[in-house]
Amino acid sequence: MATVTLDHVSKRFGEFLAVDDFSLEVTEGELLVLLGPSGCGKTTTLRMIAGFTDASAGAVRIRERDVTQDPPYRRNIGVVFQNYALFPHLTVFENVAFGLRRRRTSEAEIAKRVERSLSLVKLDELAQRLPRQLSGGQQQRVAVARALVIEPDVLLLDEPLSNLDAKLRHDVRQEMRRLQQLLKITTIMVTHDQDEAMSMGDRLVVIDHGRIQQIGTPQDLYRTPRNPFVAAFIGQANFIEGRPERDGSLFVTRSGLSIACAGCAPEARTVMIRPEAIELLDAPAPGANVFPATVEVVTYLGSASELILRLTSSETVIVTKPASAAEPRHWAPGQNLYIRVDPASAVGIAPM
Ligand SMILES: Nc1ncnc2c1ncn2[C@@H]1O[C@H](COP(=O)(O)OP(=O)(O)OP(=O)(O)O)[C@@H](O)[C@H]1O
Ligand SMILES: [Mg+2]
Repeated sequence: MATVTLDHVSKRFGEFLAVDDFSLEVTEGELLVLLGPSGCGKTTTLRMIAGFTDASAGAVRIRERDVTQDPPYRRNIGVVFQNYALFPHLTVFENVAFGLRRRRTSEAEIAKRVERSLSLVKLDELAQRLPRQLSGGQQQRVAVARALVIEPDVLLLDEPLSNLDAKLRHDVRQEMRRLQQLLKITTIMVTHDQDEAMSMGDRLVVIDHGRIQQIGTPQDLYRTPRNPFVAAFIGQANFIEGRPERDGSLFVTRSGLSIACAGCAPEARTVMIRPEAIELLDAPAPGANVFPATVEVVTYLGSASELILRLTSSETVIVTKPASAAEPRHWAPGQNLYIRVDPASAVGIAPM
């Protein structure tokens, strides 16, 4: 178990600043997710923590100890990188056993731990195959098993599940999370997939262009994104431009619609409303933020329906409604109805 600290860490490649002044602390047993678009600096950050890339500035600490100058093998870190190279001449079993053999673990213990790791990633049956006899997703799972088997202080995972189909990905993700929590392995995981980030991360770090945009729990980031980039990157959202009035209790959109807002900062220029926060009503109702609207598009998604509505003030909004077995609802294009937004769900966001 260990904490990991980045203290003003930067990485330059020539003139290019790939990682710009990262400071963060991963607490013991926490699963921290790095999330951001391609090229934003996620892999570079992991490589500096693992010791495969030198930081240009700043310090990396593991368990309060400065490891910035330490080689990778002195850091007791399990890694699964994007190019999860396996040893081609070793069987799946021996690939996973490799780290244990180096640690002079007993044969009985090796057999037990390798089996447990392989069953975790659902590969018990393939223990005697060579990597070239496996699919890409299977190789990736061997890499996950190999990183977990040594029970490292810190686990670094770079898109570890990217080659798996949706069903397997969901299962392996849950199993990994269970084991990570059981063994309390401090974990930093990179993913592009926001569902994966939200469902696995204790906290998320949203990165863009080598800069940390926001760090917080999935709930923090979803409910109160600090800027439009974070808001758009985490979940779906409606954004309507305008300006706050009356000390932030009202947000007036460009088309002149006044939306009651529980507290829009004076610098807010966008109001964000999540699709599930919009209520649909058949008739007008008293109270704040009830607006007439017309259904334009209805998309059935299985567990929910997604509607695109046009307000009479001309804005369009996306609304999602979970399917209800008890009360199935059917919406049709052209239908007139009313929307209602709780002022607490209208979140003012300042420009970046
Ligand atoms: N060795 C290198 N030399 C020069 N530039 C590099 C080097 N490694 C990475 N970069 C650049 O640094 C930036 C960050 O790269 P990094 O691999 O950390 O991105 P990433 O967030 O992991 O992206 P992806 O999601 O595509 O894996 C990119 O613009 C990349 O081109
Ligand atoms: Mg990467």
